[in-house]
Amino acid sequence: MGSVNCHTALHNNMALVYGDLMKICEYDCWFQAWGTQHIPASLVAMLENVTIEEQGEIMGWTGAELRRGLRRGFGISQKAGPKETRVGTIGHLNTALNLALPPQKPEGFVIQVTDDRIIIAGQDPQGALYGAYRLLALLRLGGISPGTRIAEAPAGSHRIINHWDNLDGTVERGYAGNSLFYKDNRIDFDPQRIEDYARLLASVGINRISINNANVRKAAKKLITETYLPDVAKLAAIFRPFGIRLLLSINFASPYLLGEVSTADPLDPAVQDWWKARSEVIYRYIPDLAGFVVKADSEFEPGPFQYGRTHAQGANMLAAALKPHGGEVIWRCFVYNCTQDWRDPSIDRAKAAYDHFMPLDGGFDQNVLLQIKFGPYDFQVREPVSPLFGRLSKTRHIMELQITQEYTGQQIDLCYLPWIWEDIMNFDTAYRPASTIRELLGPSIEGLAGVSNVGLDQNWTGHTLAQANLYGYGRLGWDPNLSAQKIAEEWSLLTFGESDAAQTVTKLLMKSYPVYEGYNAPFGVCFMVNPGSHYGPNPEGYEFSKWGTYHRADRQSIGVDRGPTGTGYTEHYSPQKAGLFRDPSRCPEELILFFHRLRYDYRMKNNETLIQNIYNAHFEGYEAVEAMRNDWMGLKGKLDETVYTSVLSRLEQQLENAREWRDVINTYFWRKTGIPDAKGRLVYG
Ligand code: GCU
Repeated sequence: MGSVNCHTALHNNMALVYGDLMKICEYDCWFQAWGTQHIPASLVAMLENVTIEEQGEIMGWTGAELRRGLRRGFGISQKAGPKETRVGTIGHLNTALNLALPPQKPEGFVIQVTDDRIIIAGQDPQGALYGAYRLLALLRLGGISPGTRIAEAPAGSHRIINHWDNLDGTVERGYAGNSLFYKDNRIDFDPQRIEDYARLLASVGINRISINNANVRKAAKKLITETYLPDVAKLAAIFRPFGIRLLLSINFASPYLLGEVSTADPLDPAVQDWWKARSEVIYRYIPDLAGFVVKADSEFEPGPFQYGRTHAQGANMLAAALKPHGGEVIWRCFVYNCTQDWRDPSIDRAKAAYDHFMPLDGGFDQNVLLQIKFGPYDFQVREPVSPLFGRLSKTRHIMELQITQEYTGQQIDLCYLPWIWEDIMNFDTAYRPASTIRELLGPSIEGLAGVSNVGLDQNWTGHTLAQANLYGYGRLGWDPNLSAQKIAEEWSLLTFGESDAAQTVTKLLMKSYPVYEGYNAPFGVCFMVNPGSHYGPNPEGYEFSKWGTYHRADRQSIGVDRGPTGTGYTEHYSPQKAGLFRDPSRCPEELILFFHRLRYDYRMKNNETLIQNIYNAHFEGYEAVEAMRNDWMGLKGKLDETVYTSVLSRLEQQLENAREWRDVINTYFWRKTGIPDAKGRLVYG
């Protein structure tokens, strides 16, 4: 078939027609139009007759979403008949239909299919909405037939997307075009686009979204004034029926930046009153605002340190202002010295978050949650999991992940992040009997916050296959037991249908992360990027920098001794974990340079030297990208041409970049050490 502007098709509710090839609408992401062919007729008859049992904004919207999804996704329209689909809350349906569905955790649901009826029962209206989306996905993925009974509930209560969007329309670390929300220092959005975005997010369980950059200093500090609040309220209204509550990033110095009080000292009553009054105004516009996100005393953002106050004092002051409205303070732990002296080896940036926040455990009010980056640095390709997890025991907290690919290829390179997120979930803090991150997500880590990877690009994420990262983030926050493989299979199938493409894509996704790590920064060395852009190789880009983070490569050795005789970072972990990290022979090799300073002739487990392993990783990484590009080319003619071409062009760029990484890093080490590659591949001496 010819090219269809699927965005227009979407707006006109046109179903897309298939030719010989699966026609993929990049804009539709994991909601491709499929037709009824995959669904048994008995189910179709039930799905044609959807009844929503209860009133209310989210429940009403659930009905609209389900009917819309059935119509657009499968061509199923509504008509009366003897078979039916009933949607409501568990409590109501149990009474109305004389069922005995068991209660679920908040936002959970049960889907039950009998011979003539599908039940979607939410623990609450939001649960019903998630049940409806799950049903739509399962109709594509398989697994719905008479006799099916599924019960699910999200692991964490907080499933957050953080936007780093600036009011001028740019997006910090954004690789998919400009902001969905802002333009030219105004709130400016296409309501349809926001609705479509909300649908994508809600369908994978997202329930909160912060809409402005945590670096509020740079922009958007006025978002909490009445110049902007009416428009913020309009955005909130679009997200609301999807069960997504807005968060606003605020600037800690707002009281004086907005010109009303001369200080921002959290212990000053005038400051406290200012925030209370401001919160009242904000909540008049957005009564269900989820709260504030705060980046304080971090990378030049103002904070309580300015007044000699602690972060607990700062956060609690805001918490008091939000409490009457049911709001929460999401306080980021990304606090470190960004004006450090590279000459001083006693400063270890990796220790900062722990050193700042562990002593405050128990000092935060009940409506404060600490938002902790997964690792102690800053979203590097490989970092150990932050030692705050498992250790904080009296403070509510969530984990921050980066969906946008800042250090992981900037949506040029294919890099499937659930692969590493699975690894993070597997990390055993070794503090309690149930102590992996996966097990702690819910009971102790109350959720995830992920930095958004979307923008105005027609396919949302720049690289079409980066949609898998957004999808995977949502799915993992909902169910941390899902494997990266399973998520890749789901996403590929939902996006590409049952096809060669889906199978190839799953394989490429699963390969992509270790491949990227290989040509980028293997063995936990971190930060070998160009300062500023954080893209492209620069082995000493952060060696003499005030931002910190040094690998200190010399002629003989590389890496940082973070054991007790070094910076002492290992001692932040449980004794079992610290013992493992301290000992180079037991330390996971993918992190060995993070924890140890080693000679280049150190023998790794494969009995080759460290330097040879570094060379190999970069050479093999490049070759693997070439193979990935070739695998993709094997899909020519088997896949929608637009998607084929756009992904191919990214893979070509990735190959070029991998070549640059390979040659710059390997040549750097060859020149530094004088040790040749055992296989004679180095030529740029
Ligand atoms: C990184 C990133 C910044 C961002 C910061 C943060 O340092 O490069 O752009 O502002 O993280 O998480 O706040």
